[in-house]
Amino acid sequence: MTAQEFNVAVVGATGLVGGKVLEVLEERSFPVARLLPLASAKSAGKKIKFQGKEHAVAVLTAESFRDIDVALFSAGATVSRDFAPVAARAGAIVIDNSSAFRLDPGVPLVVPEVNPHDIKKNSGIIANPNCSTIQMVVTLKPLHEKWKIRRVVVSTYQSVTGAGKRGVNQLEAEVTGKTAGEKKFPHPIAYNVLPQVDVFFEGGYSREELKMVNETRKIMGDDSLRVTATCVRVPVYGGHSESVNIEFEREFRLEDVVETLRAAPGVCIQDDILQDIYPMPIWSKDRDEVFVGRIRRDETVPNGLNLWIVSDNLRKGAATNAVQIAETWAKTCARTKSSIT
Ligand SMILES: NC(=O)c1ccc[n+]([C@@H]2O[C@H](COP(=O)([O-])OP(=O)(O)OC[C@H]3O[C@@H](n4cnc5c(N)ncnc54)[C@H](OP(=O)(O)O)[C@@H]3O)[C@@H](O)[C@H]2O)c1
Repeated sequence: MTAQEFNVAVVGATGLVGGKVLEVLEERSFPVARLLPLASAKSAGKKIKFQGKEHAVAVLTAESFRDIDVALFSAGATVSRDFAPVAARAGAIVIDNSSAFRLDPGVPLVVPEVNPHDIKKNSGIIANPNCSTIQMVVTLKPLHEKWKIRRVVVSTYQSVTGAGKRGVNQLEAEVTGKTAGEKKFPHPIAYNVLPQVDVFFEGGYSREELKMVNETRKIMGDDSLRVTATCVRVPVYGGHSESVNIEFEREFRLEDVVETLRAAPGVCIQDDILQDIYPMPIWSKDRDEVFVGRIRRDETVPNGLNLWIVSDNLRKGAATNAVQIAETWAKTCARTKSSIT
């Protein structure tokens, strides 16, 4: 192994996000010396393909991280709480897709287009934000720098893929008339819309809504930012959609907003209403861009703007963002086991 290659563990390799992590690592030619796919006991021995070779999935244990340089976790918050510190202590850099450490002050919460500099502040764990938050902050950041955001009102329309394999299975079973296994959602999702993503807390907000508020502030490094969210599950695949209403402190020209977004890293404008062109989840599936359209003034407040933002929650909302973090870490902080010994 050369100093430029890494032993990589993918925890949750059989899941929706873990599967995409494997795809993205391969597509972006992340320098993998050895791949270790990990999952629960029920997937032991299952074969996954990576770089043209079959790899057997191993069961995650406390011993799994010996000689691992990079551990990408996508197996839920409980698994991350139990095993991410173990992996970090064994010397791996952990990039965690779960919510376990996102608001921990000692753990950077990173979207590489927004706050890549925070990666260096890690003590072994870097958190990947919530999918709905990632696509929103990629869009908000360049606007905040120019016109300073005072308040954001966001309503989401979230894909069933955001709820993992069980969410997809429930929709497929309902649409095809088969009996679903264990249901993921508290109501039917086919031909329905649920104003609930995750559990509710005192005050009436769901966990997903609170994530959007708190994670946005942490990533943007601005606790004064006022954000309110309504998160909704819809029966679609391919990506999360968001209606985002923004109030700026400073006056703006609409054409300057469009130009700023056109130049923003990771953003792709799809906005031609005369041709019925606007972002949609069927177009964002398997893409890494954050698509922005329906860009228009909100005339009801001074300095108001409305946007429609769509992105594939499994790619930029999870796997791609995690691999981008790994790439930036590799360029700026990495010392592989082989370079040390
Ligand atoms: N879906 C999204 O859009 C999205 C976006 C951002 C972040 N995330 C986060 O990413 C994580 C995974 O989400 P997902 O949608 O990929 O879920 P998923 O499709 O249900 O996959 C879950 C994965 O975790 C593994 N797992 C579960 N319990 C385990 C255990 N005790 N030990 C080892 N592995 C275990 C599963 O392995 P088995 O197959 O063996 O059960 C599977 O590989 C969650 O924390 C989620 O919040 C998801």
